[in-house]
Amino acid sequence: MMIVVISSMKGGVGKTETALNLAIAAKKTGRSVILLDLDIPYGGVAQALGQTKEISVTDWIKTNRSISTKALKSLVAVNEENGLHYIPAIASTSDLDRLDGQVVQRIINSLNTLYDIIIIDSGVDLSEPTKAALQISDKIIIVTTANHVSAQNNYRYKEDLVSLGIDRDKLLLFINMIPEQKTAGQIVKNIVTTFGETGSSTQTVAEVHYDEKVAQIREAHGFAYNNCPSFRSGIDQVLQKLGLANPIFSQEAKPSKTNAASPGVVGWLKGLIPWSR
Ligand SMILES: Nc1ncnc2c1ncn2[C@@H]1O[C@H](COP(=O)(O)OP(=O)(O)OP(=O)(O)O)[C@@H](O)[C@H]1O
Ligand SMILES: [Mg+2]
Repeated sequence: MMIVVISSMKGGVGKTETALNLAIAAKKTGRSVILLDLDIPYGGVAQALGQTKEISVTDWIKTNRSISTKALKSLVAVNEENGLHYIPAIASTSDLDRLDGQVVQRIINSLNTLYDIIIIDSGVDLSEPTKAALQISDKIIIVTTANHVSAQNNYRYKEDLVSLGIDRDKLLLFINMIPEQKTAGQIVKNIVTTFGETGSSTQTVAEVHYDEKVAQIREAHGFAYNNCPSFRSGIDQVLQKLGLANPIFSQEAKPSKTNAASPGVVGWLKGLIPWSR
């Protein structure tokens, strides 16, 4: 199981785009994936998918520990076109005061029993719900654009996360929307170097160029991963870094008991499965 938070201290940098495409890419590897929109209150996942919010985090706030697995599964939205499982952000601000850190922890723990991978699109804040998601996560992908304001805010953000007790090894940097201009190369270099300084080292996991097709595809509720090579390669680098790049066997395709009886086959298959639940 793996919990990945997509985060930033600057809005509009491509958090939702990254979260959506990472989710669809991870799903293609055969793993079960849920995309949780914790960009509270309004979020952007359901809108990006062009779907209405019939189910939302609000429904999960109301659940308790004794709820059955079947009931939990009924509180997940499924994208009709590609089968992506997701939970839109909160439906009404009147539910806001009920969403604290403990509730977020409970929601994530429940999802952990149902899915291999939880991808969380988080808010531009350090509220208790956001902090709870950051604390419980295995990896945090900080998304920045290649400009000074975004880079500086996110640099201060990652330093603050470390002071809050977040393990610095969990942090990865995703540089998005890099302009084609020559000067951008030097800015990106500076960002990579500054974030990678020893003592507070954060590795840059992907450098993605601005491509107007990304926004066009989003408008059409599609996935840049399927149509934009530069965005796809950025997401592939993230998958690689998370150890999720290689496909796993789906439940149905897993070796049968007859195969499992042969130690030779089992050993060979194990070698092919880099990660399993
Ligand atoms: N590499 C890119 N090239 C061009 N457009 C991009 C790229 N990445 C994201 N976008 C577009 O930029 C816009 C903002 O992206 P997105 O909504 O993912 O940002 P966000 O960080 O989630 O914003 P918010 O803070 O509002 O939640 C979207 O239209 C998206 O399609
Ligand atoms: Mg967003």
